[in-house]
Amino acid sequence: MFLDKLIGLFSNDMAIDLGTANTIVSVKGKGIIINEPSVVAVQHDRYGVDKILAVGQEAKQMIGKTPLNIQAVRPMKDGVIADFEMTERMIRYFIEKAHSRKSFIRPRIIICIPHGITQVERKAVKESALSAGAREVFLVEEPMAAAIGAGIPVSDPDGYVVVDIGGGTTEIGVTSLGGLVLSKSIKVAGDRFDKAIIDYVRQNYNLYIGERTAENIKIEIGTAVKLDTELKIKVKGRDNSGLLSTIELGSEGVRSAIKEPLKEIATAVRNVLEDMPPDLAGDVVDNGVVLTGGGALIRGLDTYLAEIIKLPVHVADEPLLAVAYGTSQVLNEEELLKLISNE
Ligand SMILES: Nc1ncnc2c1ncn2[C@@H]1O[C@H](COP(=O)(O)OP(=O)(O)OP(=O)(O)O)[C@@H](O)[C@H]1O
Ligand SMILES: [Mg+2]
Repeated sequence: MFLDKLIGLFSNDMAIDLGTANTIVSVKGKGIIINEPSVVAVQHDRYGVDKILAVGQEAKQMIGKTPLNIQAVRPMKDGVIADFEMTERMIRYFIEKAHSRKSFIRPRIIICIPHGITQVERKAVKESALSAGAREVFLVEEPMAAAIGAGIPVSDPDGYVVVDIGGGTTEIGVTSLGGLVLSKSIKVAGDRFDKAIIDYVRQNYNLYIGERTAENIKIEIGTAVKLDTELKIKVKGRDNSGLLSTIELGSEGVRSAIKEPLKEIATAVRNVLEDMPPDLAGDVVDNGVVLTGGGALIRGLDTYLAEIIKLPVHVADEPLLAVAYGTSQVLNEEELLKLISNE
């Protein structure tokens, strides 16, 4: 309709990848304008009132370092909305930050949500966007957005498998004809690797480290396969006696630390492949499997997975941005939006 087009011209329609680890906002015609950790820092005052001190990068810096009256929370930990109110406030903060004050027309907002969230949570996400000023809200499933962002031709009558390894969840989706033919979500992803590293360092070195340190170890030296040259990193933590101490950790150690969660991901992918209708399975033999999400950046994960599922595995370009690219493509293509958004 002409009026719709006219409105579209003046509004800042936006797409949000609401991830458990990172939230990425893109605005139509401008691309990605916000890419920040999904973290909120709140201060509790004497009267029990919570005040938001920081959101995003600034709040993430505070994790594990806050005084008693300040809390840095990840409201969407473990693939679910753990803290409803904080999630809502975070969504509102990002929308307000992205929405240009000059625009007097309320935006349409596409939100990519973790696959596993409940109907009630979907409704809450939708309502927080509406109350933050959205004119209309569309929800898109993460595996679908990841597939589109990775360049998979999702509307083709051809089966493709995408595995999105995020912070909270790994989502496996099989797309064909604009829909998800099969999908599976497990709560094993980046956060679980971090947890496994914390446990490993404690058990093998008697050293206590926090989440931030564990994530850093994973990014710096984490690997799913044996490396030709082992990587090493110095790790600072607290030992049994409570004293500060430094150890040297090698990539071999990290590999054995994350062995279990890696295996769980591989098994989940295998189960999806086993459940596939035979004709689609045939397509997948040719097309292989595409990895997206920050977890796909673990060294050698493609090789590791290919070995187990006996299919070609590729990591998407810029896996951390695949879902955001996918949602922003949906923002630009009305047909695609009609095809894949759901309530
Ligand atoms: N270079 C890297 N190597 C290994 N892991 C990485 C790397 N860079 C980021 N990560 C991990 O990727 C995860 C975040 O990925 P991503 O932004 O795709 O998650 P998300 O979309 O917020 O989460 P979800 O999709 O589960 O809701 C974090 O666990 C982070 O530690
Ligand atoms: Mg994600």
